[in-house]
Amino acid sequence: MPTPNASSSSAKGFRRAVSELDSKQAEAIMSPQFIGRRQSLIEDARKEREAAAAAASEAAELTETIVFDEKDGIAVLNLLFTLKGGKTSLPSRALKIFEIKFNIPNITNSIMSLFHWFPRKISELDLCHHLVTKFDPDLDLDHPGFSDEVYRERRRMIAEIAFHYKHGDPIPRVEYTEEEITTWREVYSTLKSLYPTHACKEHLDAFHLLERYSGYSENNIPQLEDVSCFLKERTGFQLRPVAGLLSARDFLASLAFRVFQCTQYIRHASSPMHSPEPDCCHELLGHVPMLADKTFAQFSQDIGLASLGATDEEIEKLSTLYWFTVEFGLCKQNGIIKAYGAGLLSSYGELIHSLSDEPELRDFDPDVTAMQPYQDQTYQPVYFVSESFNDAKAKLRVYAAHIKRPFSVKYDPYTYSIELLDHPQKICHSLANVRDELHSLIDALNIIS
Ligand SMILES: [Fe+2]
Repeated sequence: MPTPNASSSSAKGFRRAVSELDSKQAEAIMSPQFIGRRQSLIEDARKEREAAAAAASEAAELTETIVFDEKDGIAVLNLLFTLKGGKTSLPSRALKIFEIKFNIPNITNSIMSLFHWFPRKISELDLCHHLVTKFDPDLDLDHPGFSDEVYRERRRMIAEIAFHYKHGDPIPRVEYTEEEITTWREVYSTLKSLYPTHACKEHLDAFHLLERYSGYSENNIPQLEDVSCFLKERTGFQLRPVAGLLSARDFLASLAFRVFQCTQYIRHASSPMHSPEPDCCHELLGHVPMLADKTFAQFSQDIGLASLGATDEEIEKLSTLYWFTVEFGLCKQNGIIKAYGAGLLSSYGELIHSLSDEPELRDFDPDVTAMQPYQDQTYQPVYFVSESFNDAKAKLRVYAAHIKRPFSVKYDPYTYSIELLDHPQKICHSLANVRDELHSLIDALNIIS
């Protein structure tokens, strides 16, 4: 398997592409500062899963008291137990210990739905604000803005918008400084020059519309509120401001409601071609145009719906799927491979790398893709290619159907809420709605024919 640094004949295409760039662009691609991506949903999801798994080792030291009670003819079993060292613990962890100690298989899966809380109404996304990975200029010595107090203060100010935001509020506008607009201009113009040859058709079409209607230009950083209105009209997706990278569970849950959690700050001026964390260049240039496509929007929402109430292990797999599709996915269009992943479409170097001869390309297969190790220090050595967004969506649905949950979920676009399909009556009601919709479509077909 070739790697980004491998000296092989397959690397010639990439080196040739680099040699054709001007010195600044080439430096951006090859410089060690440019590469490296330490924040990812997958890493967050893995940490959450490992914390739960650690609970198993404590099971042997569990002390318990079992008390039988009777009330109104109903027997009640009370189990009181404490964990090693009297630590407080996540409910999921406590359940896992309980399962191991009392040898009751699958109790965790059965009861987890009670504990893996997830939002049922869109307004409950106000509670999904867990920033589990703190990698920002205040904490990380390697961050380009670490020694720049003015930048750090600016970041704090913009973060306050996200901290105070509630669902339904208009997203407050940010008046960007000249320095910030200069950074944006450099990123915008450099990436835009590559899009005609490297970006998928859906991205190109939406980018054109965003330039026309939503303030996209090299001299203007678009406002999230304007972009959110644009997306709502196209696919029903909307943006909400976020202060940094969310926990995988919270981030994926928001997708179930067609809400994309979007950063509003911009990367440090000293490093326009690389940001170690998501910023508005990544979101606005990489994610937003893709969310304007109906099929891709449905694919994104499907990942979110699959995540609701899922176990930590499944969240990690879904995060990996998200990583290799929404962030780093490639697709075939008229026999030519193009990029649709936001991590590619917002990174000049990796966009060129992904479509060179260097990386290994594999067909998108959710069962395989969900297990693929990811690279967080340099460009991905492997990318997954979808036949089309419809094909990717169909495969994801098959994959999601195998996720073990004691219920299915359905999004109600009229009430912006999640319905649990856990009773035959609810399923019948949904089927009646589908029947009504089919009638409308049959009527339309009759009129046309
Ligand atoms: Fe992203």
